[in-house]
Amino acid sequence: MTTKQFDVVVIGGGPGGYIAAIRAAQLGFNVACIDEWKNAKGGPALGGTCTNVGCIPSKALLQSSEHFEHAGHGFADHGIKVSGLALDIDKMLARKDQVVKQNNDGITYLFKKNKITSFHGRGSFVKAAEGGYEIKVAGAAEETIVGKHIIVATGSNARALPGAAFDEENILSNDGALRIGAVPKKLALIGSGVIGLEMGSVWRRLGSEVTVLEALPTFLGAVDEQIAKEAKKAFDKQGLKIELGVKVGEIKSGKKGVSIAWTNAKGEAQVLDVDKLIVSIGRVPNTIGLAADAVGLALDERGAITVDGDCKTNLPNVWAIGDVVRGPMLAHKAEEEGVAVAERIAGQHGHVNFNTIPWVIYTHPEIAWVGQTEQQLKAEGRAYKAGTFPFLANGRARALGDTTGMVKFLADAATDEILGVHMVGPQVSELISEAVVAMEFKASAEDIARICHAHPSLSEATKEAALAVDKRTLNF
Ligand code: FAD
Ligand code: NAI
Repeated sequence: MTTKQFDVVVIGGGPGGYIAAIRAAQLGFNVACIDEWKNAKGGPALGGTCTNVGCIPSKALLQSSEHFEHAGHGFADHGIKVSGLALDIDKMLARKDQVVKQNNDGITYLFKKNKITSFHGRGSFVKAAEGGYEIKVAGAAEETIVGKHIIVATGSNARALPGAAFDEENILSNDGALRIGAVPKKLALIGSGVIGLEMGSVWRRLGSEVTVLEALPTFLGAVDEQIAKEAKKAFDKQGLKIELGVKVGEIKSGKKGVSIAWTNAKGEAQVLDVDKLIVSIGRVPNTIGLAADAVGLALDERGAITVDGDCKTNLPNVWAIGDVVRGPMLAHKAEEEGVAVAERIAGQHGHVNFNTIPWVIYTHPEIAWVGQTEQQLKAEGRAYKAGTFPFLANGRARALGDTTGMVKFLADAATDEILGVHMVGPQVSELISEAVVAMEFKASAEDIARICHAHPSLSEATKEAALAVDKRTLNF
C-alpha cells in the first residue's frame, strides 16, 4: 500500500485546526485533518473543545437559562404574567446537544466542500521522512500518512486541583458542568474566571445556590478595574456569591456530594458542603499522545509547544496554533492563527494583531473589552484620556429594561488614538466589534464620536463614550 501524502496535515479539528485546514485548502493545498474527538456514539465530532464542550454549548445554556430567568423575574416588568413556569432540564440539555451537532455537521460539510481528507483518530509524530513528516493515525484502523507541512492544533484540557481529580459526577470540569442532569441545590465553583462566571450564572439562573471561591484578592484582575467593579455589583445583586482571596484546602467527595475546606480572606477556616463542584482554575495545553519527543518538538515549561510570533516551532515546516501555544486561550485567536499559518505556508504574509483580540464574558450583564485597561496604562506611565457613558442614559437600554453598565474609552492624551475600549452591559458582545474595527484602523476617539449611529440603539452608548473622552457627551 502506498503511503498517503499531503501538502498539509493538521492535527486537531478545533477552531484553530479546522479553520487552518479550510484556509490551506482554499489556497490550493492537498490537506488532511486528523481529529480524535468522539461524540456520544463514538463517531467523529469535529470542532474541538469550542464546539463540543466550550463556546457553543455554554452559550446555548446561557441563552436557555437567561430565557428562564426572564420568564420568572423579568417579564412582569413588561406587563407579562407568567404562571406555571417549569423547567424541563432534559429538553434544555437536548437542545444544547442539538446545537452542538449542527455545528459538528457544519464542519463536516465544510471539509467535504473544500475537499479536505478527514481522519478520525489520534495523530502522533513518527519521524521526519522524505517529503515531510510521518504521522501515525490511530483510530478504528491504524495508518501512517506523510505531510510536507504539519500544523499542530491539539488544544487544551481543564486543569484539575491537586487531590481532586475530575470524576465528572461530583467534581466537574467544563465537560461535566455542561451536562448536569438535575439542577443541584448547592453548587460550588473554584475559580471566578471566565468559566466560573459563565457556568455559575447558568446554574444560578436555573435555581442553584452558587458559591464561587477565588484565590486572588481582586475580582477579574485582567479586566479594567472600573468595569470589573460594576460587573461585581451586578453579580452580587443577582445572588452569585463570590468569595475572593480564599485558600482552598481538602476536598472530599462522597455519595452525598462534595465537602470543601477553605480559608476566607480574613484567615478563618470554613467548610462548604455542596451537591456538585465545578473546578474552573484555567486550562493546560494538550500534547497528550502527540509523541512530540519522537521528532524533538520543543515544549516550554508550561507544556505549551514553543513557537515564535509566526507560530513556527523549532522544527522546519512544523507549526502550532491555538490553545496549545502561548497567548489567550480563545477560539477566535486560534482561528486567526490558523488562517495566518496557512497563508504563510503559501508564501503569503499572514498576520495576527495580538493587540486587537477582543474578549467577551457572556454573563448578564455581558463584559467585553479590547486593548489596554486603565490600570495597564497607569503602570506604563502612558498619558491617556478616559470617557465613560452609562447605559442608564441610553434610550434603547431603557426600552429593553436593561440599563446596567457602561461603555468606557481610553485614548492617547496627545493623539486621541483609541488604546482600549471596555464595556459591561446589554449585548456588549456585539458592540465590541466596532471598537475592534476602530482600533485595527488606528482610529481616534473623535472618529467614533463623529460617526452616525442608529437611534435608538445600544451602539449610541459607544459613540457617547467616545464623545466623553473630549468631555462632550450629548445625552448625559
Ligand atoms: P481545541 O478546540 O481544544 O481543539 C483541539 C482538538 O484536537 C480537539 O478536538 C482534540 O480532540 C483534538 N486532538 C488533540 N490531540 C489530538 C491528537 N493527538 N490527534 C488528533 N486529535 C487531537 N473561547 C472563545 O473565544 N469564546 C468563548 O465563548 C469560549 N467559551 C468557552 C467555554 C468553555 C466552557 C471552555 C472550556 C472554553 C471556551 N473557550 C471560548 C475557549 C475555546 O474553546 C478554545 O480557546 C478553543 O477551543 C481553542 O481551539 P483549538 O483549536 O486550539 O483547540
Ligand atoms: P481563567 O483563567 O479564566 O480563570 C481561572 C481563575 O481561577 C482565576 O481567576 C484564578 O485566579 C483562579 N484560580 C486558580 N487557581 C485557583 C485555586 N487553587 N483556588 C481558587 N482559585 C484559583 O480560567 P477558566 O475560567 O478555567 O477558563 C479557561 C479559559 O477558557 C479562559 O481563560 C478562556 O481563555 C477560555 N474561556 C473563554 C470564554 C469566553 O471567551 N467567553 C468562556 C470560557 C472559557
